[in-house]
Amino acid sequence: MNVLDSELVVASLRKEGYELTDNTGDADTILFNTCSVRQHAEDKIYSALGRLKHAKRENPKKIIGVLGCMAQKDQRLIFERAPYVDLIVGPGQLHQVPQLIADIAEGAGRQLEVSLGRKEGTRATVERSHESFDPLRDATMRPTPYQAYVRIQIGCDKFCTYCIVPSVRGPEQSRPPVEIVAEAKQLADEGCKEIVLLGQTVNSYCYREGDRKTRLSDLLHQLHEIEGIKRIKFVTNYPKDMTVDLLETVRDLPKCSEYLHVPVQSGSNRVLEQMKRGYTVEDYREMMERIRKWLPDGSVTSDFIVGFCGETEEEFQLTCDLVREQRFKNSFIFKYSERPGTKGAENYPDDVPDDVKRRRNNELLAIQNEISEEDNQAFLGRGVEVLVEGLSKAAVKKNETDSEQVQLTGRTMCDRIVVFDGNRRQIGEILPLTVYDANVHTLFGSVVTQHVGPELFSLPVSS
Ligand code: 5AD
Ligand code: SF4
Repeated sequence: MNVLDSELVVASLRKEGYELTDNTGDADTILFNTCSVRQHAEDKIYSALGRLKHAKRENPKKIIGVLGCMAQKDQRLIFERAPYVDLIVGPGQLHQVPQLIADIAEGAGRQLEVSLGRKEGTRATVERSHESFDPLRDATMRPTPYQAYVRIQIGCDKFCTYCIVPSVRGPEQSRPPVEIVAEAKQLADEGCKEIVLLGQTVNSYCYREGDRKTRLSDLLHQLHEIEGIKRIKFVTNYPKDMTVDLLETVRDLPKCSEYLHVPVQSGSNRVLEQMKRGYTVEDYREMMERIRKWLPDGSVTSDFIVGFCGETEEEFQLTCDLVREQRFKNSFIFKYSERPGTKGAENYPDDVPDDVKRRRNNELLAIQNEISEEDNQAFLGRGVEVLVEGLSKAAVKKNETDSEQVQLTGRTMCDRIVVFDGNRRQIGEILPLTVYDANVHTLFGSVVTQHVGPELFSLPVSS
């Protein structure tokens, strides 16, 4: 979500004549788009702001801004901690950034624009104060022309006890399907092949117009009709809302990726209850069975929080057991970080010591990595189809900007990264590859040539 927000702010400033620079010394304006999900993310911003104190003294005209969730959460506190900040803008006011910068440049002084807190008005007024920023886009507004994020929902109403998102991103609101489809059509006209639909609980998407309800499954059907779009993904899913109609739709529509990110967070029912996740381990297991039944070739990834309040060693071991049992494609693992203003911070002490959290994080990651590597090894010798995204990390590092032959990176329909030697004109194409090597996070492939093509095409293509 933040990547998309940053992209859109950059694009709106480009329209005003701004250019990006890598060098903070050259910049007239420095904006931080921030995250509040964990304390560490906020600490990094405050120390980056600290490093700019000097720059501001040298050039008082430099405009420094803090955007996004931390701006919404800390508001004036940011001015107090870093008095040289000029601009604070919450995620619901990003459309105002160009005007606010212009006002500051003209001498209007510091600006602060944030949304109402959840208890600062009726549901309708709070909703209105969180505006989704989705201007119609052109290809210059995206890092690659072949892929784009499309927001379909903002906010969240689930209120998991550890999570700050419902208070900084406001009430859950689904965007009208006509707007989403129009945006996707425009993206397709500009050559976009893959869209990734975004929402905090994307599978809870539901747009009501009178008696008519459009659910995510209905929206997928509408988007599937768009000719240029070849792949549709959606993140992030909420386990309780992984309904059969959605799984059926993903199975039946060939453009829908069978890659599902469905965070479980913990393998212990007591912890899940204290997190107020609204399901038990048994419910989650049942959901996984449903996914495997409808999408036998699909891949599922998860998030975990280790060291949540009161988590015992036995409870943590239940999480390890669940990872071993469910064999996720990969897992994103986080140490619990207490967020002021959440029910978790209010009601439960953050009592698992940091070294224990770190050890549990490493232990769980080691289990997951072993599984990911084993599963990736199973791809050896198999054919896969990737959307070529660009130069591989190694090629970027080596700064291979001139040569035609370069190492490229692509992604399979099920979100597996494949690195291969190719030609830069292949960027943006959907290509068949064969996999000859694999490690934990990456498959290594080679392009299927014309000569051997027909035999390999007769092999089943894995996703
Ligand atoms: N501490 C640690 N991890 C968190 N997440 C959300 N809130 C917290 C927190 N307070 C994790 C969850 C979520 C992911 C985006 O971040 O696992 O799925
Ligand atoms: Fe946070 Fe829970 Fe909403 Fe996800 S579902 S954004 S974890 S409150």
